[in-house]
Amino acid sequence: MAQNKESSTMKAGLNPVKVVVVGTGSVGSTTAYTLLLSGMVAEIVLIDINKDKADGEGMDLNHAAPMTTDCRVYVGDYPDCANAAIVIITGGANQKPGQTRMDLAAKNAKIMQEIIPNIVKNAPDTILLLATNPVDVLTSISYKLSGFPASRVIGSGTLLDSARLRYNLSKYYNISSESIGAFIIGEHGDSELPVWSLASIAGMRLRDYCEKSNQKFDQDALEKIFEKTRSAAYDIIKRKGYTAYGIAAGLVRIVETILKNEGSLLTVSTVGDYFGVKQVALSVPTKVDRTGAHHIVGLSLDDNEIEEVKKSGQNIKSVCSRLGF
Ligand code: LAC
Repeated sequence: MAQNKESSTMKAGLNPVKVVVVGTGSVGSTTAYTLLLSGMVAEIVLIDINKDKADGEGMDLNHAAPMTTDCRVYVGDYPDCANAAIVIITGGANQKPGQTRMDLAAKNAKIMQEIIPNIVKNAPDTILLLATNPVDVLTSISYKLSGFPASRVIGSGTLLDSARLRYNLSKYYNISSESIGAFIIGEHGDSELPVWSLASIAGMRLRDYCEKSNQKFDQDALEKIFEKTRSAAYDIIKRKGYTAYGIAAGLVRIVETILKNEGSLLTVSTVGDYFGVKQVALSVPTKVDRTGAHHIVGLSLDDNEIEEVKKSGQNIKSVCSRLGF
């Protein structure tokens, strides 16, 4: 372990790619494992106030490394964030059955007030990637707490919801989710919305696709698919107590987009002005590259969608103000 730690103090530029995961609960540890298997990073640092839990996860992960990607995993503290390319924040309370994500706002905002300054002090140039819920509220708050440009404070947002929507549509139409262009915008939570007006299969609007493939276009079925998408986390939590694989895959997808400087458009959450709602974090398709996330695309939504995304943004903003941000 001591040997592993040494490499973290090497100068930036020559450094192996290091990613820090703050919080080693189910989301943090699954994210670390997914990241390890991805082979994209040389070092993963785990930080948790529960040292024993972090140590246990670190040991278990290190035992996977010789059989997979030889990534070095170690348990550290905030000074170990130095020169990290990305710091992923998963710490905090998670949803219990019957709770909404917004119910966690006050408790997890306090935790961000402790975590963020410690990261910023040690890694002033890093990219913050947040998964803790309510992720849009906490992304807004962390943007303020960090003093970072909005491009370097990224919430996982509705990337996972968009994946869930594509998965559900892929089952319904019986085609690969790869071939479905559909996404969810707004809050990662109860006020999110699907952008049906821009959803496509093979470049065709859903209605046209149905017509060309001799299927009935059924808007009610689409609404049910959206309901199922929006309630997915509740349905999983009811059964297994937490969600982890989907969000971990989403976080690692964002890491990949950053490290490979892809410039992919992902529905992640960043602070910006959206449809007249100013300085709030919510998700729309956002360009992600090695400098972070850049909200560059104006979406041509229909009038209903504009109203709904505004409401979603105002909802996030009002929770932030209630918390004093
Ligand atoms: C979910 C959690 C990450 O939707 O909010 O699975």
